[in-house]
Amino acid sequence: MKKELYVYIHTPFCYKKCPYCAFVSFEKRLNLLDNYVEALVKQISSLDGKNYTVKTIYFGGGTPTVLKVKHIEKILKALENRFDLDVEELTIETIPNNVKPDYVRTLKLLGFNRLSIGIQSFRDMKLKALGRIHNSRDSIQAVKTAFKYGLDNISIDLIYGIEDNLDTFGNELELAMSLPIKHISTYMLTIEEGTHFFDFLKSGKLNLLNDELISDLYLMLCEKLNKGSFEQYEISNFAKKGFYSKHNMAYWTNKEYMGFGVSAASFIDRKRLKVTEDLESYIKNPTTSVFIEETLNKNELIKEMFILGLRLRKGVDIREFKKLFGIDLIEHFDKKIKKFLDLGFIRIENNRIFLNGCRAFVVSNTIFSELI
Ligand SMILES: C[S@@+](CC[C@H](N)C(=O)[O-])C[C@H]1O[C@@H](n2cnc3c(N)ncnc32)[C@H](O)[C@@H]1O
Ligand code: SF4
Repeated sequence: MKKELYVYIHTPFCYKKCPYCAFVSFEKRLNLLDNYVEALVKQISSLDGKNYTVKTIYFGGGTPTVLKVKHIEKILKALENRFDLDVEELTIETIPNNVKPDYVRTLKLLGFNRLSIGIQSFRDMKLKALGRIHNSRDSIQAVKTAFKYGLDNISIDLIYGIEDNLDTFGNELELAMSLPIKHISTYMLTIEEGTHFFDFLKSGKLNLLNDELISDLYLMLCEKLNKGSFEQYEISNFAKKGFYSKHNMAYWTNKEYMGFGVSAASFIDRKRLKVTEDLESYIKNPTTSVFIEETLNKNELIKEMFILGLRLRKGVDIREFKKLFGIDLIEHFDKKIKKFLDLGFIRIENNRIFLNGCRAFVVSNTIFSELI
């Protein structure tokens, strides 16, 4: 029987690099787009995919909507030639600026059934602080256009932690919920090394919110979205019933995935693989640009699956661990779990172990680092 596979395609081009972004994405390199797509096709074609059935394909970035129809067709064709495709979810990420009627229609014709729009904010001041190239009107218009022209499974990304207070962010969430969207991914602004924000912070040019306000913003967003028509199915992800991201669920449930393009990660046969981050060398040698980062042993795999599963509201199935690894999770983590059970941050019910709601999610990083 064939194994299920989840495919990620990375497009590392952006019109302008955002000052907070550490993803592998380059501005002013669009002249390399044709060559890059050729390299992607070569990387895909070099694989033996006969044992896999692809269940989701996710075009991420960067800004994958810089791709033209001919590029997307080539990539999908290469996948079709190599794998058995039974794709339930075909997603592309975009910035609001690229959501135009003709492009949306074309994406639909190509088979996309999910659009993830990097809205980030509905407030001009915040968008400016984030160095975005769109304003709040563009953000709203993008959602409306995608919906009107038939890509109605829409997810939006929102950032919080800059230029925010409880009122302004609360209003943004209300506005988000009034739009025809199915999914919201929320991101607490993180300051990553190598970004302009990292340098601004070091030189005192960036004012960040204090930790208490950030936690309050998170608790508020959980409360508002959960009260609205969204289900919180992961620490930072919310969806209307039936619209959980199948692709991201695969990551959180430790399914096998394959990534193509610079910086893309794969997880196959317990091996974590990564493609080089060097654009030129990838274009030159796409088939030899993949490196094994590590091979997980049984213990590492148990920890990984446990932590990833705890990110989900439904938590992890104790019986599944027994079946897969022959261990009793509670005994295995023993004292470490007991501490958080006593504190009320972890609960066990119906053979599942899970974080006990948003008050536990808000301290999840501390919990995870103590569990591993
Ligand atoms: C690869 S970006 C994809 C979308 C598209 N490139 C855009 O920016 O609209 C994925 C998401 O990661 C989030 N993100 C990127 N850098 C971040 C950071 N430093 N802190 C928090 N969220 C970040 C943004 O919300 C962004 O939408
Ligand atoms: S946040 Fe998105 S648009 Fe901005 S640089 Fe990163 S990948 Fe590009």
